[in-house]
This record gives sequence, C-alpha cells and structure tokens, in this order.
Amino acid sequence: MTGQSRPYRPQDVRFFDQLSLAAVRSAVSTSRHFLRLTLFKWQAAFVEDDALLITSELVTNAVTATGVLTDHPTWGELEKLNLVQVRLVGLRDSIVIEVWDASPEAPTPMQADDDAEDGRGLLLVQQLAERWGSYRPRAVSGKVVWAELAVRPPRPTPLPRREKSARSTIRPVRPDVGFLRRVPTGWRWPSGGLLMARHTGMTRAVRARGRVPLGVLSPDRP
Ligand SMILES: Nc1ncnc2c1ncn2[C@@H]1O[C@H](COP(=O)(O)OP(=O)(O)O)[C@@H](O)[C@H]1O
Ligand SMILES: [Mg+2]
Repeated sequence: MTGQSRPYRPQDVRFFDQLSLAAVRSAVSTSRHFLRLTLFKWQAAFVEDDALLITSELVTNAVTATGVLTDHPTWGELEKLNLVQVRLVGLRDSIVIEVWDASPEAPTPMQADDDAEDGRGLLLVQQLAERWGSYRPRAVSGKVVWAELAVRPPRPTPLPRREKSARSTIRPVRPDVGFLRRVPTGWRWPSGGLLMARHTGMTRAVRARGRVPLGVLSPDRP
C-alpha cells in the first residue's frame, strides 16, 4: 500500500529523532548506526533487521538522486553538496522511517515481474513495510520517501510445562543389603577401641578391646 501524504498526524507522534547527513555514500552506514541506536533507545530493537534494510534502500536512493557518488569527493564537489535527512518516528503500534532528499522526483518502483538486476530496492521496501509512499513537504523543496513498520513486541516465552501423563524414568533405588554388608565399616566399640573390618575373607583388622560382635560383620550370618 502506498501513500502520497505524510503517513501520520503530528498529535500521534510518541517519539521522534532525526539526522541530517551530507549526501555521500557513507550516509548509508551512518544512518544505519543512527537507526540501530534509536531503536535500542526506544526498546524496539526487535524490528531492527527490517528497519535497517529499508533505511539502507531509501538512503541509497536519496544519495543516488541528489548526492556525490565518487568515493573521494573533490573540494569543488563538496562545496555544492546536498543534504539528506533520516527521520525515525515512533507511533503507538508502528515506526515510520522517513528519508528526505532535495530531488522533487517521486520514486518509481519497478514491476515485480521485471527480470532486471537493478531496481529491486523499492520492491524490497514494499515487501517489508506495512505501507510506504512519498510526499512533498510544504515547508521545504524536495520530497520524503517513507515506510511504516508494525511494532509487535515478542511475547515472553512461557516456561516449559511437564506433561501430566509423562512418567518419570527415574526408578526407586532398592538397597542391596548384601553389598552394603561388604562395604568397609568402622565404628567405635563402647570400650573406646576402633574396629576396622573388611569382610572379604582376606583382611580383618580388629583393634578393639573387648568382645567384637562378629555376627554383625559377617554377610553369612544376617
Ligand atoms: N529518492 C529518490 N529520488 C528520485 N528517484 C528515486 C528515488 N528513489 C528511487 N527513485 C527512482 O526509482 C527507481 C527505482 O528505485 P529502486 O527500486 O531503489 O531501484 P534502483 O535504486 O536499483 O534503481 C530508481 O531507479 C529511481 O529512478
Ligand atoms: Mg535503490
């Protein structure tokens, strides 16, 4: 959907930020930085990917239409340099990216079924944006090309819930009484000596004074 007038009413603007740049190639990357920082500031970074693609296309077009495209502009070229302006507007449920340049010419998107390599920038904008268009501001010459993106904050992911019917795979452990009896054991005999016993049939060290209840140590005699 396109529009030929400003896509919002001044009273609906919640946030607003803009940047004026010399119309040279580096304006594209600078406007991307500006957009990223502004979206972060507005807690709307989740629309960043689409917003950056749109901004790159619109600013590239603005620089191509009115700017100096050589990598190292000469002094004379810089003297008559135009400006481009990037503006980000925050509405209730959307953001609007506006790019102003000094050319009065309206953008002319190519037909979607055209096979040409070039001329796909505005088609991309058309695909990503809810609406887009251009208008000629009353106060200044030139025109603004704009695109609107819906802002739908992602819902918080709920914690995973356990299936009611799911059975635990953990089995209760039954003590192996026979094994426990073979484990090295130590305790104090009432007379104060320490009994060390290892029931393997090989070692039995007893340092206890008094009677030792061998029956307790022996697995053969439960
Ligand atoms: N800001 C602009 N000012 C004037 N003409 C423009 C502007 N943006 C786009 N156009 C016109 O629309 C055409 C299509 O733009 P686009 O889809 O971005 O393709 P491309 O930039 O590759 O030509 C451009 O070739 C140009 O003629
Ligand atoms: Mg283009």
